[in-house]
Amino acid sequence: MTKFAINVDNVSFSWCKNSSILESCSLAVPQGEFWMLLGANGSGKSTLLQLLTNLLVPKSGTIKMNPPVGLVFQNPDRQLIMPTVGADIAFGLVSENLSLSETRLRISEALLAVNLLGLEKKPIYALSGGQKQRIAIAGEIARRCSILLLDEPTALLDHEAQLELVKGVRNLVKARKITALWVTHRLEELDYCDGAFLLEKGKVIQQGHPQTIKKQILYTEL
Ligand SMILES: Nc1ncnc2c1ncn2[C@@H]1O[C@H](COP(=O)(O)OP(=O)(O)OP(=O)(O)O)[C@@H](O)[C@H]1O
Ligand SMILES: [Mg+2]
Repeated sequence: MTKFAINVDNVSFSWCKNSSILESCSLAVPQGEFWMLLGANGSGKSTLLQLLTNLLVPKSGTIKMNPPVGLVFQNPDRQLIMPTVGADIAFGLVSENLSLSETRLRISEALLAVNLLGLEKKPIYALSGGQKQRIAIAGEIARRCSILLLDEPTALLDHEAQLELVKGVRNLVKARKITALWVTHRLEELDYCDGAFLLEKGKVIQQGHPQTIKKQILYTEL
């Protein structure tokens, strides 16, 4: 039987009294799979991710996920706050009260996972956009997150860095049995995921095979 790592059941949410942003929204992501969430500007994708990370509370409905849950933003400059790579990843581990050697081990494991081993001392300002996104992901891997939520992580990247990131996340999901939900507008990224949801006005209107979702979006745009 399929086990779901992310379970959203009939969730409704509104920012203000008279306008509903999410309306009986339901979706479930199978454990160990890489799913994408698409939808027009303003359809509620980022709001849904904020609900999944407990930054917002639903008006009704239930959300079930096993913490710790990692979130990666569109702009890594809003996520990476320490001067160097190692310090930034370590900062995310402060609440765990680890010893220095345990912290170092977690950092190197996480950097290995995103293929950036050896960059511990590198200043954040000296990284490329793609490297910054991989460091943001490494921070969540170091925290042992089994669920990764990514809100348009490639929006600021060029084509080459975009493909490197999407392939890298796919490899991480498969190698570490992580579950990932990736928000995007870029249809070519659908070639790398296991399944996709299409959100319209706060409701999932289609879900399933990525190529079917791709065709539906292209057809609607005609
Ligand atoms: N902090 C906020 N306060 C009030 N309204 C908000 C807030 N954030 C988002 N909204 C509104 O909620 C709706 C959904 O926004 P959301 O950011 O979730 O959409 P989105 O699908 O992520 O869009 P995009 O593709 O542009 O990122 C929009 O109408 C937006 O104006
Ligand atoms: Mg958004």
